Amino acid sequence: MTSPAASALDTPALCLDLDAFDENVRDAVTLCQLQNIDWRPHAKCHKSPIIGQRLIDAGAIGLTCAKLSEAEMFAAAGIHDLLIANMIVGPQKVARLVELRKMADPILTVDSLEQAEPISAAMQAAGLRVRTILEVDIGLSRVGTQPGEATLKLGQQVDKLPGLELIGIMGYEGHLMAVADQEAKAMQVEQALAMLVEQQTLLGSHGLQCDLVSCGGTGTIHLCTQQPCITEVQAGGVIFMDVFYREKCLVPGFREALTVLATVVSRPTPERAIIDAGRKSLNIEITTPQIKGRPDLTITRLSAEHGQVKLTGPADSLRIGDRLEIIPGYGDLTIMLHEQFHCFREGKVVETIPVAGRGKLQ
Ligand SMILES: Cc1ncc(COP(=O)(O)O)c(C=O)c1O
Repeated sequence: MTSPAASALDTPALCLDLDAFDENVRDAVTLCQLQNIDWRPHAKCHKSPIIGQRLIDAGAIGLTCAKLSEAEMFAAAGIHDLLIANMIVGPQKVARLVELRKMADPILTVDSLEQAEPISAAMQAAGLRVRTILEVDIGLSRVGTQPGEATLKLGQQVDKLPGLELIGIMGYEGHLMAVADQEAKAMQVEQALAMLVEQQTLLGSHGLQCDLVSCGGTGTIHLCTQQPCITEVQAGGVIFMDVFYREKCLVPGFREALTVLATVVSRPTPERAIIDAGRKSLNIEITTPQIKGRPDLTITRLSAEHGQVKLTGPADSLRIGDRLEIIPGYGDLTIMLHEQFHCFREGKVVETIPVAGRGKLQ
């Protein structure tokens, strides 16, 4: 066996090249260490305690989570330093956060007093405090307080809440990932992250603690690790890479470690092939997936269970039963469709890793 395509796996199957993965992890750790920045990789892409633990063993300080349920899963697996980079709102989640705090040391993200107060009250009632950071909107226009006075005001309010321990700020420069002009991108990332640095200074000058300054995605990992005062980056998908990061974000280095193995199930015309991987196995919204090693083949459409492939080469270059390795357009939205990673080394399946957090959306 020389590649997943030649393996005995049935299809569609999510495959992980462990050699490429290990190299990506090493490179991400080195990139951060060279700048003396901590790596807190976002775990929303892999949703796997096994992978999370491997990243920590390789040098990550903890994990970033998108969901409380992800944090609960990682805590149950013994990973305790967990940033929940999302707004926790509502009595059910507040109660769960208190339970999580009993077994782990999560970092809560807040952007309003309305959100922060009930959490503080619940923590205080349980005799607990939770580390807390303020999310600042540095241009993404998603959550977050406006930089400057508005964030300072919230910081002063949060600092008075007995159940919360204010330790810093975060911002996510997600709107800049795919800026095409690389000089403009570097400048815009620098300007966006400068807002965090200025915010840190402003909070500090008012006596507020702001030791933690968190930001960063895979699409900007090479830029945000260069910025002074950033203490940690959240880039997570970098461990897998994909077409979006490589072609739209132009992230230098890192190898594509992830593929979806599919089988050609029909050849209705000389120019068209149909594979057994559609939208339930692949994601096409962010960027179109690509077929590894076959520039003559293009994925033109995905329906729920079928993928349509266009051939530009000879019709007999693709037959029913042939296997194709497909590089996900966006790994994050592809992995959560699958139950497990089939992990390869030198073309052999050496282990399977469950996507244990699949469906953990609350
Ligand atoms: C808060 C936050 N941080 C970081 C990231 C970057 O994640 P990744 O590196 O997997 O693209 C995201 C992605 O959506 C995010 O929402």
